Amino acid sequence: MKNSVNFNDKIIIALDYGDLKPVKNLLDKLEGRAFFYKVGFELFTSCGEKSVKFIKERGCKVFLDLKYHDIPNTVYKAVKAAGKLGADIINVHASGGTDMMSAAKKAAEEASEDAGKHIDIIAVTVLTSLSDGDINRIFYDYNYNDYEEVIQEKDGGYGVSKEGISSGLAMHLARLAKISKLDGVVCSGRESSNIKKTLGKDFKTVTPGIRTKIGSDNKITNCADNSKDDQKRVMTPSEAFNAGADYIVIGREITGAADPAVAFDKIYTDIKDNISMQKI
Ligand code: C5P
Repeated sequence: MKNSVNFNDKIIIALDYGDLKPVKNLLDKLEGRAFFYKVGFELFTSCGEKSVKFIKERGCKVFLDLKYHDIPNTVYKAVKAAGKLGADIINVHASGGTDMMSAAKKAAEEASEDAGKHIDIIAVTVLTSLSDGDINRIFYDYNYNDYEEVIQEKDGGYGVSKEGISSGLAMHLARLAKISKLDGVVCSGRESSNIKKTLGKDFKTVTPGIRTKIGSDNKITNCADNSKDDQKRVMTPSEAFNAGADYIVIGREITGAADPAVAFDKIYTDIKDNISMQKI
């Protein structure tokens, strides 16, 4: 082992299940390894507050990933309710705007006081499943007939180059989150180093889109395979931490593995072996 830093509570496992049974199964298998879990749409919609309470009762932390995006008053109330449930990290969409994010921050502060602990409120910048082309199609390219031609002709639109469009947008949304006094953002590993450099090292970055590729030595190689599913802006676990992530979010690489504990250990070995000295 190259270092003695404990990364176990910096790895957040995404519990994308529709039932508490597989949740219990996974927590049993990862007992003593993983201490931070993410409850998202599927689990919360299926099982509600029971899902958060179940994880908290096991002594683990919860990132309640419900990505609120609504008018400020509604988001304020939702964040207060999430805090009451026991969530340790709550998130909103940065594209909801600064008034909405400020309302979320106010709610998180009040909920923190009630809970007697700090609850992080963070903002989703650009989903890691969106490529530059996708962003172009959503925000910039108003021609619905022939996308490829228009993208090339317009060079990304609004003077933003097609190549950097997702990173530029993520940086802009992160700035809005910082202005709204949020604790940090959810962003791709490709953006976190820039976000940290510009907005300060205390501004947290949480990075999903973690993918691994096993090399001939049965260890994770440095180059993530980014074409096997819906995630597009991906990185390996160690790459994400080296790029500045405070937390990484991993779902299917662990939940879909034949043995989740073995998958977790491989990820942990990759982090231990390849983490840069600055992070230690
Ligand atoms: O299975 P996988 O590792 O792709 O899971 C990633 C998890 O992180 C999913 O639960 C997804 O909803 C979540 N997430 C994401 N990108 C974001 C925010 C959350 O992939 N920007």
